[in-house]
Amino acid sequence: MAALATSLNHLQAYPDPGYDRLRQSLSEVHGLPMDWILPGNGAAELLTWIGRELAQLDTTYLVTPAFADYHRALSAFDGHVTPCPIDLAAGPPNLVAPIPVSPQTSACGLLLNNPHNPTGTLMPRDDLLPYLERFALVVVDEAFMDFLPPDQQQSVLDLVLDWPNLIVLRSLTKFYSLPGLRLGYAIGHPRYLHRWQRWRDPWPVNTLAEAAAIAALQDHTFQQQTWAWLPPSRQSLIAGLQALPGLIPLPGAANFLLVNTEMPGSQLQRALLQSHQILIRDCLSFPELGEGYVRLAVRLPDENDRLLTSLAQIL
Ligand SMILES: Cc1ncc(COP(=O)(O)O)c(C=O)c1O
Repeated sequence: MAALATSLNHLQAYPDPGYDRLRQSLSEVHGLPMDWILPGNGAAELLTWIGRELAQLDTTYLVTPAFADYHRALSAFDGHVTPCPIDLAAGPPNLVAPIPVSPQTSACGLLLNNPHNPTGTLMPRDDLLPYLERFALVVVDEAFMDFLPPDQQQSVLDLVLDWPNLIVLRSLTKFYSLPGLRLGYAIGHPRYLHRWQRWRDPWPVNTLAEAAAIAALQDHTFQQQTWAWLPPSRQSLIAGLQALPGLIPLPGAANFLLVNTEMPGSQLQRALLQSHQILIRDCLSFPELGEGYVRLAVRLPDENDRLLTSLAQIL
């Protein structure tokens, strides 16, 4: 808020189209050269250009269920999609998608998400290495990776300099609770980033978003606090959900949990909203999940307790 307030005076000028201050800040955070970083109007804006890039390949292998915006970005450019469905019935720890690795994929793209939305599954980074050898372009959306304490992250960011066919996507939306700010960034080989810069409008990130992002990235206290409260809070929410009839939570690594529900998801959502003023996410927008699942946010312990008590009353 302080960074936004001090930046109001700067609205009289256009933003720096190179976003040098922000890229410098991100370069220090990740220990990567500035040229390999491209900020965007949310990760969603960068997904548009990733979609255009992937659409030029034979097909894009997409782990499903998938964040709906991937379909939007690929279909905007008539990209061909080959779904790789996760076998949800197999249950944990087998929630991995059967992505083919063969010579036939050398002209194809791969778009995946780690930790994965909506399952919350965290893929070990080493499992991704074979794909880098076999796909023309591998995009790893790490929008939720920063929720993991640094020593538990499974990021592939450190591989970008060695793999010119790897793009990593990050967002400030989730970890910093800033969806309205619209700030995300792509990290990858400059030959991609320069091309996207030519495709898009010159100032996709506004002055206030740039200033707030720089301030957020330096807020180490907030980062440490989140890494301290989230894992135990998530663990006790999982335990509380396991104790309720008709609910089976999946072991997520992010700030949400995918929960298998016997009561249809939309019915459970409505009951919670009507009787307890709590809004949960139904999964109807994920065709593979439908009424069989809901997605719950992991919040602070007293809010999780309120959710558990309300669920117990309904179920
Ligand atoms: C997996 C995933 N990637 C990216 C995004 C988009 O983030 P942004 O707000 O930066 O566009 C979301 C938002 O829901 C998401 O779930």
